Amino acid sequence: MKPVRIGILGLGTVGCGTLTVLSRNAQEISRRVGRRIEVTRAVVKNIDKPRPSITDSAAISEDPHFVLDSPDIDIVVELIGGVNSAYDYVKYALDNGKHVVTANKELLAVRGNELFQVAQDKSVVIAFEAAVGGGISIIKAIREGLAGNRIESLAGIINGTSNYILSGMKEHSSSFDEVLSQAQQLGYAEADPTFDVKGIDAVHKLIILASIAYGVPLQRVEDIFCEGITQISIDDIEYAEQLGYSIKPLAITRRGLDGVEMRVHPALIPQSNMLANVNGVMNAILLKGDAVGKTLFYGAGAGAEPTASAVVADIVDVARVLTGDPDNRVPHLAFQPNALSDLPIVSKGKMIAANYLRLHAVNRAGVLADITKIFGDYGISIESILQKSSSGSREDIVPIVILTQPTAEENMQSAQQQLENLDPVVGSIMRIRIENGS
Ligand code: HSE
Repeated sequence: MKPVRIGILGLGTVGCGTLTVLSRNAQEISRRVGRRIEVTRAVVKNIDKPRPSITDSAAISEDPHFVLDSPDIDIVVELIGGVNSAYDYVKYALDNGKHVVTANKELLAVRGNELFQVAQDKSVVIAFEAAVGGGISIIKAIREGLAGNRIESLAGIINGTSNYILSGMKEHSSSFDEVLSQAQQLGYAEADPTFDVKGIDAVHKLIILASIAYGVPLQRVEDIFCEGITQISIDDIEYAEQLGYSIKPLAITRRGLDGVEMRVHPALIPQSNMLANVNGVMNAILLKGDAVGKTLFYGAGAGAEPTASAVVADIVDVARVLTGDPDNRVPHLAFQPNALSDLPIVSKGKMIAANYLRLHAVNRAGVLADITKIFGDYGISIESILQKSSSGSREDIVPIVILTQPTAEENMQSAQQQLENLDPVVGSIMRIRIENGS
């Protein structure tokens, strides 16, 4: 089958991230779609500006119509941001029957009602997963995975820059200005961070979320309550902490008797709430549906590859629509049936994990040496060892807690067996694997 051809408008951070992900995962992606995806054309603002080598495979121009008018382009990916030119280009692409993938939350929040109508009239798709929450698939989750629910509320940290600043102020007792300039040096915050720190970026994203959550038109930016984080001082952060709260940049929408409430502002969140522990540039959205209850979506809300992850997912979705077999657009097991691989599965004995072991042993000289020798015999490295005081009826028997470094399951099982057979070890050993989830 012919490849699906992509034209990208804008080769900035996200544009280059998209090329990188498409290139690195090309094989895996074509096994999902059933066709190769090729970025054949791209448009940049300044063609003379040095570009990373990943852009070499695409023909480059400064003229948007190099992509928009090309009959070879199946999908236009808009990554230039802003409203005015982006609106003109997206509308032009849709009018000409091209599908559009965009990460532009401002464009959709401000002109989305018109653009979605054009897309509908022209029977083409505008896909926009990357517009909210960067790499978190919150749009698809609400639209597809949670489609059986009546969504009751959403509360989220959906601006990474503001979260980075408030987290940094708390962690280092630094001022707003100090952390902002640090965020700019690290490339987290834009040179002009106004939209981020004043809450406007979060308003754009909230407008999109509320629309897909409740089935209401995209609301007007000026109708949404919006307060930024610029007035928060280190004193506020410390006082809130002493009272058991964290201050977070929150976007909230709830469905109530009087209608849909939407607001963006910094808020005190009890430290026991999951959102209070979302720090740095991370985003998280806590959603409440009538059937599912509360679900939390967490991940990188910005950055080249996390955002590209969402852009590429949208490209894959549209490419599946383009493959033309209406009965098999999304394969049951995500990959095309003829492209399943027989990647070997690691056997149970070769699984690697660190371990916590709790055992009881007679408290006498040489017992610890016998125990640790068994670990050594099986090549298991001990991370730490702790002997507690006796708590049971026999004072000569003490609990010993051992943490190991990551080791193969079969070695750990054999060592555990030998430990249990050791004379001074009493009863069975409690073993719990240690995981960090990655
Ligand atoms: N500027 C946004 C943020 C990232 O700081 O979260 C892109 O949406």
